[in-house]
Amino acid sequence: MRKLGRNDPCWCGSGRKYKACHMAIDEKIQQYALQGHIVPDHDILKTKEQIEGIKESSKINIAVLDYVAEKIRVGMSTEEIDRLVQEKTAQMGGIPAPLGYDGFPKSVCTSINGQVCHGIPSEADILKDGDIVNVDVSTIYHGFFSDSSRMFMLGDVDLKTKKLVETAHQCIDIGLEWVKPWNFLGDMAQAINDFAKANGYSIVREIGGHGVGLEFHEEPFVSYVTEKGSEMLMVPGMVFTIEPMVNMGRADIYIDHENGWTVYTEDGLASAQWEVTVAVTEDGYEVLTW
Ligand code: MF3
Ligand code: CO
Repeated sequence: MRKLGRNDPCWCGSGRKYKACHMAIDEKIQQYALQGHIVPDHDILKTKEQIEGIKESSKINIAVLDYVAEKIRVGMSTEEIDRLVQEKTAQMGGIPAPLGYDGFPKSVCTSINGQVCHGIPSEADILKDGDIVNVDVSTIYHGFFSDSSRMFMLGDVDLKTKKLVETAHQCIDIGLEWVKPWNFLGDMAQAINDFAKANGYSIVREIGGHGVGLEFHEEPFVSYVTEKGSEMLMVPGMVFTIEPMVNMGRADIYIDHENGWTVYTEDGLASAQWEVTVAVTEDGYEVLTW
């Protein structure tokens, strides 16, 4: 951590003196670091202005998902969902973050049933009665990134699958209860994992959430299978996603050998995921994108 004088301007750019701004927080972080905990660097703590920027980006992300929610129906191809995302994002002055990210070929991820995530929209994938699909939208606006996803249930979804989708949604609320300064990401992870397990489900281990805001994927990696008291300390200004992938059956996954992207459950059973972006505030959290 850079050594600042008490009367120097704070590193966060607030214009306030260090002692009246982040000094106390930095000292507290230092204490946790000395105890051997993982703590965030300054560069992943967002300023108020940056959080405002992420919120502007989030408005587009939310509007795009609302637009998809209005239009999605049985018989539609996932390619059409891609077009809806392009259309709405462009209309609002944003850029879809997935397009060209690490070579991803489309503007949104659409993952159906046993697809866990990173499904690639295609003219060939037609939504059928009884399908569940995750639509994962990410937006860049004036350089700020937002990221959230929702599940959609098409037509008559069987009760068992509905319950999976509902439990995955509840996992977000359970996780949020743990988001506040001086808790650990592992506290949130264990709460989510325990809840999923208690319902008979499993949580994907290899893929998780991430810091977000100034880039699409920032530190830290956010696991939902780690233990209470482990992982990074939560500190005001951290912005990350909560996006556990909840599997009906086993947690094991594999990646499509041909396209190198789409992740499937090994056992072929359904997987559900909701994603929000959350900021750690002085006394709790604020959901930025949902
Ligand atoms: N939106 C996904 C996430 O939640 C990431 C997708 S990467 C992409 O982190 F390239 F597939 F878009
Ligand atoms: Co994400």
